[in-house]
Amino acid sequence: MEMKVVETIADIRTQVRALKAKGKKVAFVPTMGALHGGHLSLIHLAKKNADAVVVSIYVNPAQFGVNDDFSTYPKTTEADLELCKMEGVDLVFMPSTEIMYGSGTKYFSIEIKELNKYLDGGSREGYFQGISLVVNKLFNIVEADIAIFGQKDYQQFRIIEQMVKEFNHDVKLIMAPIGRAKDGLALSSRNVYLSEMEREIAPTLYKVLEEVERALKNGLLEPEMLLREKQRELAEKGFKNDYLNVFSLEKMWPVNKLEKGTSYLIAAAAYLGKTRLIDNILFEN
Ligand code: PAJ
Repeated sequence: MEMKVVETIADIRTQVRALKAKGKKVAFVPTMGALHGGHLSLIHLAKKNADAVVVSIYVNPAQFGVNDDFSTYPKTTEADLELCKMEGVDLVFMPSTEIMYGSGTKYFSIEIKELNKYLDGGSREGYFQGISLVVNKLFNIVEADIAIFGQKDYQQFRIIEQMVKEFNHDVKLIMAPIGRAKDGLALSSRNVYLSEMEREIAPTLYKVLEEVERALKNGLLEPEMLLREKQRELAEKGFKNDYLNVFSLEKMWPVNKLEKGTSYLIAAAAYLGKTRLIDNILFEN
């Protein structure tokens, strides 16, 4: 099937429903564009798990704070569409903000009571409310059978997983592993902001996470001292730390004392210059 690019809600609905009427299983990969290898691995996984793939490209203003990079967020639409075509995507949904949000006053929002107190939710006011809102809308618009999200944004996955459960979205979620550059740096649309020097330092964030993982594997149950030491190391390299900690998978809370046989998320966020980097390792116990 030739790839179709559609902009309206009516069009994407018609196209997806036509695919489903033919008995095709539809997978959905929501993105903000500026596609890289990480996004492509999600598309691969989508293709593997379904008969047709829908990708959305929409930079959602609701998830950017006043000091965030909404106005400078990288836009590479033509290259994105070329990549989608090469990857055999069936439908690209590229709505305008007029289409996604309309112009009238909004009477509803999504309140998140738990899961967003720490990690990125703790640092970025309104971030996950904005994400939940747009993903909720996108799920209602696209009506896919499955949706793919990356482990790179583990807290995002966890919050959407909970939203799907509590709001009864009829969609099955799949988490894709983190796509990395050869030197370990997690691929991100924001990596283009890094200067040459910052790009050289950047993989240290993952190295630090690996070192924490190794210590936990060796049986360390109270990682506080180690985490403090690693934060110091990052700061010495030129990072401005936001968080580096071990979190519970269920509640996304920091954990001081690990329990044997339980899995955790080792996660970090830090700035290099103005660029915010995040990364994590799922420590499966
Ligand atoms: P965006 O940052 O474009 O990411 C789209 C999807 O790609 C997310 O599921 C994200 O976790 C995944 N992803 C990004 N980098 C990755 C990497 N290196 N390896 C694996 N997966 C990676 O996340 C968003 O957009 C938005 O919040 C969105 C869900 C589209 C809502 O606006």
